[in-house]
Amino acid sequence: MYDATQRDYMDKVAALHGTRTPLAFVDTYGCQQNEADSEVLRGMLTEMGYAMTADEWEADLLVLNTCAVREHAEQRLLGNVGALTHTKKAKKSQLLVLCGCMMQLPHAIEKVKQSYRHVDLTFGPPLLPKFPELLWQLLSERGRFYFHAEHTGEILEGMPILRGDPPHAWMPIMAGCDNFCTYCIVPYVRGRERSRAPEDILREMRALADSGYTEFTLLGQNVNSYDGNGLDFSGLLREIEKLPGDFTLTFMTSHPKDATKQLFDTMADCRKVKRQLHLPFQAGSDRVLAAMNRGYTAAHYIELIRYARRVMPGLHLTSDVIVGFPGETEAEFEETLALIERVGFDNLFTFIYSPRAGTPAAEMDDPVPPGLKREWMARLLAVQKRVSQEKQSEGA
Ligand code: SAH
Ligand code: SF4
Ligand code: F3S
Repeated sequence: MYDATQRDYMDKVAALHGTRTPLAFVDTYGCQQNEADSEVLRGMLTEMGYAMTADEWEADLLVLNTCAVREHAEQRLLGNVGALTHTKKAKKSQLLVLCGCMMQLPHAIEKVKQSYRHVDLTFGPPLLPKFPELLWQLLSERGRFYFHAEHTGEILEGMPILRGDPPHAWMPIMAGCDNFCTYCIVPYVRGRERSRAPEDILREMRALADSGYTEFTLLGQNVNSYDGNGLDFSGLLREIEKLPGDFTLTFMTSHPKDATKQLFDTMADCRKVKRQLHLPFQAGSDRVLAAMNRGYTAAHYIELIRYARRVMPGLHLTSDVIVGFPGETEAEFEETLALIERVGFDNLFTFIYSPRAGTPAAEMDDPVPPGLKREWMARLLAVQKRVSQEKQSEGA
């Protein structure tokens, strides 16, 4: 359960403000998991006497919740942090906090220490539950603080959450990732996979449904490996389906190595579960998929989709794909194009491979020049555009 000492720190911070209501600005980079974490940050800040603002000039406290998944995400963050020297000049008392995945990486913390000296506090995802204590330290001692801790394998319940207004609610059902796809930094910054107990999830959803939320998105890096004290993901969907109230349910992200026909049967059976699936395939070549450590073949992926569409006609299907994984050849890239043509996705999230220090792929030979990878990406986007237009005109 959420640490009682953090409740004390929240009270102490609130007392520090007296009758004043300071303003906090929380900005989120990266994925929906980070969006959900930002709702926890806002929940804690509210209990510590802050009101939220969307204006970085008037904020007393700026919190940027960062992402490390690709170089581009890091560059964008650092650009924005650089620009905040202006707001800090205009409002001398303003405090700047960086948290989230990028702040779990030693090289990123070092960069902030060296080149972004207007940042007052940094901490990574394992310390999110201790944010009240860290903020108290900053407010009471002043100075610059760079906190680091490893994940403990715990999953905390009972943290304050300030959600967006109904109808939609994010619902994290698990944290971390154990899959170690060779390109991906997430397992290093988010720690080992752990699942919330089903009764905690169900209790929270029941309360939210009672207070007007009607659209839920279950979140996890690989929801298909959910294990809530022996209850698997299909079992969880069936339990949620039984909750009273009219609501819809989607989930992300699914992993083709763990998505099963049983899951698709369950989706087809459950009235509240939308016929929507985000199932990243990443690459169309079996050699590349193996080098990525994805644990399935292109044929397996296609078979899953064939089955899913059979039991759920009209399924809305989206996916992620990486172009230019180290050592990918033109012929292998063309297998990705062939898979896109064959499957026909409703929408595709496309990424050029970005090396992440510390991951196995970053050590692999990568002879394809960036310009050629960009050309491949342009070809891929053209194929996807044509495929999705064809799908739309079929549907019309
Ligand atoms: N756990 C989810 C999402 C992970 S991050 C999943 O496995 O699907 C979202 C997407 O970012 C991934 O699906 C992948 O396509 C992309 N991605 C992750 N690391 C990347 C990297 N180093 N370079 C380029 N794209 C990457
Ligand atoms: Fe990264 Fe793979 Fe885990 Fe997704 S499943 S978060 S891509 S390691
Ligand atoms: Fe980025 Fe962390 Fe999500 S690295 S994609 S914010 S889990």
